[in-house]
Amino acid sequence: MKRILITGGAGYIGSHMVAALGEQGFEILVYDNLSTGYRDSLLFGKLVVGDLSDTIFLRKTLREFKPDAVMHFAAFIQVGESVKEPLKYYTNNSVNAINLLHAMMDEGLQNFIFSSTAAVYGHPGRVPIVEGEIINPLNPYGSAKAFVERVLRDLSLAKDFRYVSLRYFNAAGADPLARIGERHNPETHLIPLVLKAAKRERDNVVIFGNDYPTPDGTCIRDYVHVMDLVDAHMRAVEYLSDGGKSDVFNCGYGHGYSVRQVLDVARSVTGIDFPVKESQRREGDSPILVADSSMLKQRLDWKPKYDDLKYIVKTAWEWERNIRSS
Ligand code: UFG
Repeated sequence: MKRILITGGAGYIGSHMVAALGEQGFEILVYDNLSTGYRDSLLFGKLVVGDLSDTIFLRKTLREFKPDAVMHFAAFIQVGESVKEPLKYYTNNSVNAINLLHAMMDEGLQNFIFSSTAAVYGHPGRVPIVEGEIINPLNPYGSAKAFVERVLRDLSLAKDFRYVSLRYFNAAGADPLARIGERHNPETHLIPLVLKAAKRERDNVVIFGNDYPTPDGTCIRDYVHVMDLVDAHMRAVEYLSDGGKSDVFNCGYGHGYSVRQVLDVARSVTGIDFPVKESQRREGDSPILVADSSMLKQRLDWKPKYDDLKYIVKTAWEWERNIRSS
């Protein structure tokens, strides 16, 4: 499989995917409406500016490019916003995914790699979380992704169609060469917010909740370097290419860090202290989300290379220092 169509390729994870595929000589077409992505995040490939709701244009794009596989990164990603604007999330993250699947079916395209999320689990019964854990999303963001997973399963049972769904835990870090990185507007993720506070672009860091049932009272997350996520997609392409059957895989390192630990690492990496405020819990946050990614390692031979929070924060910091306030 050498021709890959990437929706959302101008976004955070998508642009790192484009870089890795480009470096390995894949032929890439990015389909992105640039609503949240950036044209200058594309280091390789060709960009088609298009919306997934434009089904005629989408189909024409697929027909002309004839990708061997489609990677679907395009989605809205703010959990809090999804609670306030559910239709925005169901439309973009579910309906538009279905539009893409329709277009693929119409054009006889069979291989699909889907960006799913740990948010499908809600408050898991056990951590580390295995893929067989009950799916119980707590917000429209997670529900919309879980719904697409369901559609994928049904479609793969009914048609000549195979997929890999990767449930990302907390994507973090940036391109080791600091050419691209995380650029959300508004930013809601912990690590970039902390680094912006270190840059004095923000007055302080706010800890959302200090009374969780965790050792230091703050939430624990499994921060996974974006390049290791990208590598999981590479493995997924190979897996589908080798005839692997459709499946869902967690994507995380299997251990987590609390919010306070992230702040400590950020102080140590940047050498800068910043004001910290403690505040109420953020609605919908699980106390602990840590992946059991044994399946990904066993079945797709995933060998993460950057399982080191210091390195994750270091790459994010190098990128953050390259960009102006957004
Ligand atoms: N946090 C703070 N202060 C902040 C921002 C975050 O204390 O200013 C805390 C959060 O409460 C959470 C942790 O830092 O405990 C990480 O928060 P992020 O917003 O960085 O990430 P989330 O865990 O909320 O979300 C991530 C992805 C989502 C995905 C979710 C799955 O960004 O897309 O994991 O659980 F849905």
